[in-house]
Amino acid sequence: MENIRWNTDLEIGIDVIDAQHKRLVDYINDLNKAISHGHTETVYQVMEQLRDYTMDHFAFEEELLEQAGYPLTDSHKQVHRRFEAKVEIMVSELGNGTDPMGVARRARNTMMVWLIQHIRHEDQDYAPFVKKILNKNESWVNAALKRVFGTTRA
Ligand SMILES: [Fe+2]
Repeated sequence: MENIRWNTDLEIGIDVIDAQHKRLVDYINDLNKAISHGHTETVYQVMEQLRDYTMDHFAFEEELLEQAGYPLTDSHKQVHRRFEAKVEIMVSELGNGTDPMGVARRARNTMMVWLIQHIRHEDQDYAPFVKKILNKNESWVNAALKRVFGTTRA
């Protein structure tokens, strides 16, 4: 399976979010690579990193949406919760299934499709609302990054 190629049509024009989405793409590509090399241990590791980073990214993004007063914040959060539940199921299936590589391939396919669709639709949709507040709130963004990721660089 081909890696996801990061390109400008995956950008929503908010640097701090684009950097996080790019990192999610890197993790998915790492998973893809581990699958094609048949490295089961690496597959487990990357799936856990991907799960953790996804949760942090969602937490950060949701704080940003709330701060911006984005009107669809609640439904956006629900979309995140549903995806998190799916990822959790796949991570636990990976740990106790008889066919870890089959689970990993399904996880990779699901995540590739979901992330690209989500960025292009739901995330693109909030971009104008968030852009309006960002310039005035740089110190808030740095504080939120530190709170969620423990660093001002995501
Ligand atoms: Fe999102």
